[in-house]
Amino acid sequence: MTPGQRTIGVVTGGGDCPGLNATIRAIVHAGKRQHGWKVIGVPDSFSGLIWPERCRELTFESTRGILPLGGTILGTTNSKDPFAFPPVEGGQKTTHDYSGRCLEGMQKLGIDALIVIGGNGTLSIAERFARLGVKIVAIPKTIDNDLQRTEVTLGFDSALHIATEAVDRLHSTAESHHRVMIVEMMGRDAGWIALYAGVAGGADVVLLPEIPFTIENVCDAIRRREALGRTFAVIAIAEGVKLPERDAAGKPLPKTQPGQAGSSLMQAIRERVDKEVRVTVLGHLQRGGTPSPFDRILAARFGAGAVELVDRQAFGRMVALHGAKIDSVPIAEAIDPIHLVDSECEVLRAARAMGICFGDAA
Ligand code: F6P
Repeated sequence: MTPGQRTIGVVTGGGDCPGLNATIRAIVHAGKRQHGWKVIGVPDSFSGLIWPERCRELTFESTRGILPLGGTILGTTNSKDPFAFPPVEGGQKTTHDYSGRCLEGMQKLGIDALIVIGGNGTLSIAERFARLGVKIVAIPKTIDNDLQRTEVTLGFDSALHIATEAVDRLHSTAESHHRVMIVEMMGRDAGWIALYAGVAGGADVVLLPEIPFTIENVCDAIRRREALGRTFAVIAIAEGVKLPERDAAGKPLPKTQPGQAGSSLMQAIRERVDKEVRVTVLGHLQRGGTPSPFDRILAARFGAGAVELVDRQAFGRMVALHGAKIDSVPIAEAIDPIHLVDSECEVLRAARAMGICFGDAA
């Protein structure tokens, strides 16, 4: 144990995902068993540091039984940046920089180092704190899988299981009713869930934010199937796709509202193809519930890896999965730019080789 690093704070920030509790438990077990550290749980992302009296010590007892639990026992938020904290209800409409209060909070609690479990937004905040001198180690989590420099983020595999099961289940009802079934998945900027679940479930069409597409090309894919006697189709669409504003003939298409990619697509297909079309939005089902075995094991490895980084004083770094190894990278390199599906992506290439339609505009 390094003198002066005996109290570790744990923060979970951003959207929750399966595997957060398993990670918290791993940190408590590795930190206490290997080093005898005191571990403090910070509630509701960094907000808990603004009000340190809300923080609680995490013990073997208080983390007992949480391994398979979804969500985070610490609570989280994706809308309370301590550097631009939103006004409390009824208060002034200006934001406040509470970063100084967070530093004071850490001091009051005697926290020597923070382990921050987060996605892009949370780790950007962690990076700012690191630049202010806070000793931080990060753990990558997001169902979106859109962080750089790690092969996978915590939570992605569990979300993928749910999305794949949805594609599987929609196949049988699509076939029975000779329908086009659209399934909208999370992914504002990156289409990893839709791509992977589309391949894993054998979707006919996959639409991603990264690949511009035309409605005509999507409809042609449905018509081609029809000509082969396949009277149904399953379309996996990421919530962040940009639907084209006009069709090939210049006719305006319905405007996509945020979170309505699937229903806008349904309307556009109905106007062009003589088929029944239905849409299912998976939404937060992808974030809730128990983690997959892969995510539980990743949680154990990331948690123990983060404790090791703190012990080695390798601050400003994020644990990462590289091949069969847990490694670490600078936090700054993980968050910028967002990790998107690109044309070199091997899964994308395999999907194209197998004939999955991406509706490519060009
Ligand atoms: O970043 C994770 C994520 O689940 C995105 O896929 C999704 O767009 C967003 O969070 C939803 O956020 P909220 O829970 O605030 O609706």
